[in-house]
Amino acid sequence: MADQAFVTLATNDSYTRGAMVLGKSLRNHNTSKKLVALIGPQVSEPCQSVLRRIYDEVRVVDVLDSGDTAHLAMMKRPDLGVTFTKLHCWTLTHYSKCVFMDADTMVLSNIDELFDREELSAAPDPGWPDCFNSGVFVFRPSMETYGKLLQYCTEHGSFDGGDQGVLNGYFSDWSTADISKHLPFIYNLSSIAIYTYLPAFKQYGGNAKVVHFLGKTKPWSYTFDPKAKQISGSVQDATSHPTFLMDWWLLYSSTVVPMLQEQYGDQPFHSGCVEFPYSDVVTCESGQGESSSLYAQAHQPLMSSEERKQKWEQGQADYMGMDSFDNIKRKLDVFLK
Ligand code: UDP
Ligand code: GLC
Ligand code: MN
Repeated sequence: MADQAFVTLATNDSYTRGAMVLGKSLRNHNTSKKLVALIGPQVSEPCQSVLRRIYDEVRVVDVLDSGDTAHLAMMKRPDLGVTFTKLHCWTLTHYSKCVFMDADTMVLSNIDELFDREELSAAPDPGWPDCFNSGVFVFRPSMETYGKLLQYCTEHGSFDGGDQGVLNGYFSDWSTADISKHLPFIYNLSSIAIYTYLPAFKQYGGNAKVVHFLGKTKPWSYTFDPKAKQISGSVQDATSHPTFLMDWWLLYSSTVVPMLQEQYGDQPFHSGCVEFPYSDVVTCESGQGESSSLYAQAHQPLMSSEERKQKWEQGQADYMGMDSFDNIKRKLDVFLK
């Protein structure tokens, strides 16, 4: 339907890569809806061009920032003040209904059925299930709602410093009023659930329709070797499921990187793939605007066993690496023998 759209947001080139993969994943699963990307003016011209090839509409919007450092610090995500920019999605009034999706989400099957739901439908947040997670939600664009949301921000602020705090404050009866507005968790499966409730993930994870790489470390924070099909870097913060992360990288390296290469021509750019030209000498921009060399990222020093023990005791196991299920099983087998 022409008046229904999937909408995402990217204020910088890093998140734009996520938006490109999201758009591609929606197209690959034959969505019949329009695709809209809201972007910040900071997004580079080549990245905008690639976005325009994937999305029906790319709209530059003002970056709104909550500036609420105190609340953002509590989440350890100083970068998320700009997620207020998401509220611009209500201004897309040439659509009657939309589904917003964070740029760090990827679809695993067709999800057009979400348009049968009403505003505001969303899945529970894994950290506080009486709140919804604002990484995927169904809404109806309306200037009136947009105005009221901005007014809400001015009067009440956001309890987390980002859009999710505002939206949960504004749509405050979400958890009690209408169960049809509770999207099943498989429409916003955050990688966090994998280590907070592994048995449930094993039981239901196979039905996932949308994966959300929620948290500080994003797929594009890693480095990928397409030949060896190997992901490296940022392993200490790894919270993503290796299969989903691999799916993201396979889609990115096979479909998005060639388009970026075309746009950049001879200019060096960061693809995150080790085999592409220049990628071993340029720096890698993370979501937080930090820079570190790809080589350094790929060859991070290993932790001492004492550091590892401390991390493990703090609940920060390296499930993809040293503390992977296979490694633990191997160790147990040795003990049992
Ligand atoms: N976002 C953005 N630029 C930023 C931070 C966030 O464009 O610097 C957008 C992007 O769409 C992102 C969403 O806001 O997916 C929410 O941020 P993020 O996904 O990092 O939050 P999380 O889901 O990890 O809590
Ligand atoms: C969350 C959501 C994200 C939102 C952020 C800030 O964890 O996943 O979409 O932007 O909080 O409120
Ligand atoms: Mn997200």
